[in-house]
Amino acid sequence: MSAILLAVDAPQAGEWLDALRVHAGEHELRVWPGAIGNPDDIIYACVWNPPYGLLGRFRSLKAIINLGAGVDHLLADPDLPQVPIARVAHADLTKRVTEYVVLHVLMHHRRQRRYDAQQRARIWRADDQPAAGEVAVGVMGLGVIGSNVAAALGQIGFKVAGWSRTPKTANKMLAGMETFHGQAGLDAFLARTEILVCLLPRTRDTEGILNLALFRKLKRNDAAGGAFLINAGRGQLQIDADIVSALDEGTLAGCTLDVFPQEPLPAESPLWGHPKITITPHNAGDISPQVFAPHVIAQIERFERGLPLDNTVDRARGY
Ligand code: NDP
Ligand code: OXD
Repeated sequence: MSAILLAVDAPQAGEWLDALRVHAGEHELRVWPGAIGNPDDIIYACVWNPPYGLLGRFRSLKAIINLGAGVDHLLADPDLPQVPIARVAHADLTKRVTEYVVLHVLMHHRRQRRYDAQQRARIWRADDQPAAGEVAVGVMGLGVIGSNVAAALGQIGFKVAGWSRTPKTANKMLAGMETFHGQAGLDAFLARTEILVCLLPRTRDTEGILNLALFRKLKRNDAAGGAFLINAGRGQLQIDADIVSALDEGTLAGCTLDVFPQEPLPAESPLWGHPKITITPHNAGDISPQVFAPHVIAQIERFERGLPLDNTVDRARGY
């Protein structure tokens, strides 16, 4: 008996089950929480934010499929079995996050929060509006999602640059784009950036990277009318108190946050009521179970034929 475990700690758990059932064929699905049966039957695990210790119970496990892009939660499990992990790298998710970032870059660029406030006060006043080509946007993280976001912003006309861990030479999506890499390239990247977009994974190197010292290195006195932050990577990358300080001292002119160190964002968080912060509930991107389920089963079937999984995670790197 070989079975696939589905363990999704999110409201979409039922949708994942329905979608996987359509494509599972001969594979038996066992659903957590619920009657999992003999744990030794579980050969594959399809998971999103499973509780720590759960996967360690399955001694026959051969592979884990993470039903999202970020694997920080999974890798933090001290009992995580040493089996290959695949993650989501799919156009559906990439396009959704790209929509989100484009929306929020344009919102800051076009001063939409200011016009919303003017509307509430019935004020008719048009401020100077620079063209996108005058505004410098910087994308931290040039992976599957960040590259697409940078390319889309470039097509709108922004002056886009990106920052990654390793140099980007062969990525055709970034052809002609200014790129920076590593600690050595960070300050120069920040110094030319007015709207900072973060699409980094959470690793031991990126935790807390979005802090006051970093915000102070952004370019403030240019076309965008201040420096802006958009974080759709992970909440643990940002220091909430530093964001508030940066907004209050004028280092940042505005920010959009989709992710938070503690989610759901606690009701008492000062971020909720801050006039310069736009908050969304970690929904910049989701993968559609209907779209991704066939890939999950195809991955498992390829793996059973002795082929490697696609989009595997490098545990040492942390993403
Ligand atoms: P990838 O693994 O494809 O890309 C990660 C990028 O980050 C790479 O360019 C990598 O550099 C760069 N990076 C990693 N560590 C560092 C570092 N220390 N310094 C500089 N650059 C670094 O990930 P995805 O693009 O698929 O996803 C990125 C993240 O977005 C996910 O991990 C997740 O946290 C978040 N996400 C959030 C969603 C939401 O709804 N808010 C939805 C989907 C994803 P290099 O290219 O050199 O390896
Ligand atoms: C992801 C996410 O990592 O939705 O896929 O945050």
